[in-house]
Amino acid sequence: MAVHRNSQDYDDIGAPMPLDAGLGPDGTRRRALSDRKALRAVCRVVARRHRSERQGRRRRVHSAGVEGRPGPVEEVIGLSTLQVEYTEAELLADHEVAEPLMAKGVRCHGGFNGTGEYVSPRTKNRWPAIRAWEQQRLEQFSSPILDIPLESWPENFPNVEQSKLLLRNGVREPTISALTRIGTVEGFGVMLRTLAIPDFERSFDEDIAGTAVAHIDGGLFEAHARDEAGFDDEAGHNVMWFVARDIAFEDPVTEDQTARMLARMGIGAGPRTDAELTAMRDAARAARALPDDIDFTLEVLAGRMIGLLLIEISAFHGFAWAEALLSDPDLVAGDGEAARIIGYIRSDEAPHVAWLRTALSEMRDRTWVGEHGEKHKGSEMISRLWDRAVSDSLLLRRQDNLKFVLHEIELATAHRRDAADLLEEMLSLGTVVRRPDGSLVDEQSPQLLG
Ligand SMILES: [Fe+2]
Ligand SMILES: [Fe+2]
Repeated sequence: MAVHRNSQDYDDIGAPMPLDAGLGPDGTRRRALSDRKALRAVCRVVARRHRSERQGRRRRVHSAGVEGRPGPVEEVIGLSTLQVEYTEAELLADHEVAEPLMAKGVRCHGGFNGTGEYVSPRTKNRWPAIRAWEQQRLEQFSSPILDIPLESWPENFPNVEQSKLLLRNGVREPTISALTRIGTVEGFGVMLRTLAIPDFERSFDEDIAGTAVAHIDGGLFEAHARDEAGFDDEAGHNVMWFVARDIAFEDPVTEDQTARMLARMGIGAGPRTDAELTAMRDAARAARALPDDIDFTLEVLAGRMIGLLLIEISAFHGFAWAEALLSDPDLVAGDGEAARIIGYIRSDEAPHVAWLRTALSEMRDRTWVGEHGEKHKGSEMISRLWDRAVSDSLLLRRQDNLKFVLHEIELATAHRRDAADLLEEMLSLGTVVRRPDGSLVDEQSPQLLG
């Protein structure tokens, strides 16, 4: 395959790259959901257009002002020219490509334009829409967009040098296992389709017409799910990671080995039972972060979106690690093709980070309305969910991840006489150290419990 360039390495809103969460691919169900959603989307768009016409004058006059006050005339004109209403079909539309992306015989989503630049799937209107929503939000609320720097998370463990040492010594399984795990988690993106959608108009005091929030169930979740898990005959990120792994390591795992590997990670192959889902929901309700009068469906949705955003941003460490490792022709096969595929996936993640940041900022900027009309500051609601999610992401998952990864390395080296020396040498190349009691700590960021 020809060497192509990425055209979307960084999004215009300034976000770093990303990845995801949810459960395995299911073609038929997806199709049924998609048909039903298409009908609902048409009804929604008609309703929205009527509402927009009714509210047009008011929005044009007040849109640029802060807290309802009219802004400068030129801002009003600028905003009135933005398209902020999109149909689901528009948000799912692809650019024309001169050449589709094929990898190891697999038709992947996206492709290359006439000048050889990679173009992400479903971005023909999605990018302009996200930019318009964010510009509108800034003009309406003048608040900074929600953000968290990538540096909040430590680098990948094992890091690039540690992974290279293992590969030079013939220890391939931990890297293969990591690539399998990332691809599997990407496939969880289909779960977005199963999330219950609250009544947004009732949930917020201020208008939500023409916002990213209003399009969550009108194309944004669907586009995101398709990017992560594929759609029709085009592979998504899950399969693309597996293809990259298979190119770099020349088809290293059987289905059986993959299932065992995922079981070690605590990732089940089948869907959860109704009883398990009910138990999870009950536990979440008992641990609510928001006041009882706030619609629980809204709390769950906003919480999931925040969790997803944190995964998407922190995953940039994983992309950097994988691209550095898989582009080394002395250690892996494929002459860098595997790394290029990861680069394309990274490009596709930029709109995920961007729309989540804008939609969550829109929620934060608004007043949340409780069941009996109580008013709550959106900034307070989002900050409660945000703080909890950040703490979970930095503390709990880091410790679990370190333990799991080290266990994979120990498993892969257990049969070797030099296992202890190799492990010691590997740890000397990074900041994670093993305490005498066996627990792990990252010296670079000891506050992260790992
Ligand atoms: Fe992804
Ligand atoms: Fe993503």
